[in-house]
Amino acid sequence: MTSHTSSDDSKYGFATRAIRAGQEFDPTTGAIIPPIYQTSTFVQDGVGGLRGGYEYGRSGNPTRASLETLLASLERAKHGVAFSSGLAAEDALLRSTLSAGDHIVLGNDVYGGTHRLINRIHVPNGIELTTVEMADEDAVRAAIRPNTKVLWVETPSNPLMKITDVAALAAIGHEAGATVVVDNTFASPALQQPLELGADVVVHSTTKYIGGHSDALGGAVLTSDDELADKVKFIQFAAGAILAPMEAWLTVRGIKTLAIRMERHSRSAQAVAEHFVGHPEVVAVHYPGLADHPGHDIAARQMSAFGGMLSIELRGGADAAKAFVERTELFQLAESLGGVESLIGLPAEMTHASVKGTPLEVSPAIVRLSVGIEEVADLIADLEQALPR
Ligand SMILES: Cc1ncc(COP(=O)(O)O)c(C=O)c1O
Repeated sequence: MTSHTSSDDSKYGFATRAIRAGQEFDPTTGAIIPPIYQTSTFVQDGVGGLRGGYEYGRSGNPTRASLETLLASLERAKHGVAFSSGLAAEDALLRSTLSAGDHIVLGNDVYGGTHRLINRIHVPNGIELTTVEMADEDAVRAAIRPNTKVLWVETPSNPLMKITDVAALAAIGHEAGATVVVDNTFASPALQQPLELGADVVVHSTTKYIGGHSDALGGAVLTSDDELADKVKFIQFAAGAILAPMEAWLTVRGIKTLAIRMERHSRSAQAVAEHFVGHPEVVAVHYPGLADHPGHDIAARQMSAFGGMLSIELRGGADAAKAFVERTELFQLAESLGGVESLIGLPAEMTHASVKGTPLEVSPAIVRLSVGIEEVADLIADLEQALPR
């Protein structure tokens, strides 16, 4: 197994690291872009004579390593491990931190697939699960048991954009001897760096903002805890959920524009959110950039901008919401988020269908918007024309 630690790029600002960290030009040809090492294995100079530590594509690949170094640099982590999807990364992290008989406290507004993974795969294997309002510190403290090993939070959360104070949560978790995990998919490291706020480990679906172009699935675990990183790497090596070289290369390419994309996503989402405040067809707008959002002050402290995701609740209820998401033209109806193109979705029937009947169930009147980087006036006009009247 090769280890990919962040290099001495740490002195540079975020946008510089996003372009340069782990991205050395090809020493043979001078090609400025490191090549895609589309190979399954590596020739050895005699038995055990590995060139650059590479042996076989499951244990390591230079293209994947360049992404891991880059992601570690962006999250200010010592170690990065890139997986075939966000859920594969989550699964390896859960296996690394929990054994049968252990307890996990999970935010009650996380991606439905995260809840499904824990509830349907890990709970039957002996893990105890409590879901809780993570923004409520008393509720989190009350949920902790002697066998609590992990606190797992998404902030902003999905789809209600709830904000959790990561530093406060980390303090609660550490007091209890638990590992504090932050799913940083919605903010991306461009807007929020949870390890700097005290979290132990960050998990990402790089499929979203990090890749940014809706063309590659992926996931990552980032941590500065050597022992935890070794466990995660071993599980990946042993179970095989690696990121393929082509996907790693596409993700690296996407990351180069992450800083400016997140600025634009955030500006446009703010404009869309403000447009719907007080709108006659809308009863609630959930966006942390609005001053009356319950998590606004914490978000303003721990994020550099408020991100590109928001949700709105339609006055007309479930039927109005369904008709709305089927009538937009620029906002395309699809699962996922975080690409340059705007997406619209009905969480109750799509991303969160798997949590129906659980405490995480989402109102069918809620519409989730992933605001892309098109002309914001076009986006607002598109949403307006699609509203039920
Ligand atoms: C916040 C969040 N975390 C994790 C995931 C899972 O990632 P993936 O779809 O790459 O497995 C998603 C996917 O939608 C997500 O929105």
